[in-house]
Amino acid sequence: EKHSFKHFMLKEIHEQPGVVRDCLQAYINSNWDLEFEAKTTDELHPATVDINQSPIELGLPDELLENLEQVQIIACGTSWHASLVGKYLLEQLADLPTTVEYASEARYAPSPLRPHTLIIGVTQSGETADTLAALSMEKQRRLNAPTQFKPRLLGITNRTESSLGQLVPHLINTRAGIEIGVAATKTFTAQVIAFYLLAIDLAWRRQTLSQSRVQELVKGLRKLPSQIELILNTQEAKIEDFSHQFSDTKDFIFLGRGINFPIALEGALKLKEISYIHAEGYPAGEMKHGPIALLDKDVPVVAIAMPGSVYEKVISNAQEAKARDAHLIGVTAKETLEESDVFNNILPVPLVDELLSPILAVIPLQLLAYYIAARRGLDVDQPRNLAKSVTVE
Ligand code: F6R
Repeated sequence: EKHSFKHFMLKEIHEQPGVVRDCLQAYINSNWDLEFEAKTTDELHPATVDINQSPIELGLPDELLENLEQVQIIACGTSWHASLVGKYLLEQLADLPTTVEYASEARYAPSPLRPHTLIIGVTQSGETADTLAALSMEKQRRLNAPTQFKPRLLGITNRTESSLGQLVPHLINTRAGIEIGVAATKTFTAQVIAFYLLAIDLAWRRQTLSQSRVQELVKGLRKLPSQIELILNTQEAKIEDFSHQFSDTKDFIFLGRGINFPIALEGALKLKEISYIHAEGYPAGEMKHGPIALLDKDVPVVAIAMPGSVYEKVISNAQEAKARDAHLIGVTAKETLEESDVFNNILPVPLVDELLSPILAVIPLQLLAYYIAARRGLDVDQPRNLAKSVTVE
């Protein structure tokens, strides 16, 4: 049921605050922060949780996660983008070298076997043929290998009863509810949340973060649902109006750096698959190595400029684009508006820890893609040539 929404995609975009809330509630020990805040246990109020335990409860066995040396992630499409955010988190929070492979490539060029590797298959449907085949290959070639190469397989999926569930012994259920729109929105957000939880849990186990940094991240995660709501409540009508000017646009460029580079890729994918406008996502610093030649007044550039380690760099890359007459749209935090008078238009999101910003930055990009496509009168939920799950190679 679409209820009052014109398309399932729009309904699913709006479901994201609830999806994030449910997922956090399911996997974060709800009393941990309170106990951590209090830090003491008195006779009258004995602690209900041990703050020396990880606040994250994914129900994964120690044998899967202990003594890891690296992580290898296999996925396609939007799930591959979520995995790139995951790589950033696993490396920066848990100090685990991580590779992210396209399943369709990994199948035919297996990487050298490395010991103590966690292999993660990410597929919302749990039915993507290439992802299943690549995972099954990894499983097979490790079965008869020496102990340190034994398969350690984990799936991240929205459908635990899927073929993925048969193939791998351990799953993180992203609990987003069934997604009908072909363009993934809420399942992407839920996958990224799963990676936050996994990375924090691994950071805890490997002692790569202080307890107070873990607490800060957990607190930040808990604020995300209301921050997504705020974007939806205050920006949707503006983005709908704003998107009208792109009805005849032929090309779009999306720029991001660091943890928001995958969001640039995702913004471009959403736009191309439902609006059929050619769109490319680039790491902003790569523009000068070729793609900047594409820019002129007819190519809008969306720059994701979230305050943090690469903020000034993105702003300066955006300025380079502006010097080529590009129409510049900034996805940025309100607090930095004055500094960013470089943008022709701003899609504001709340100011958060840079590490958590992808979850907010993707929301205006989903709305932008949706309203541009809807304005063109296209079948947003069933774009041409696409299927919800790709069960053939
Ligand atoms: C894009 C999209 C696809 C899927 C891809 C993988 O919006 O939906 O790119 O992400 O086909 O699908 P799953 O996650 O089911 O393996």
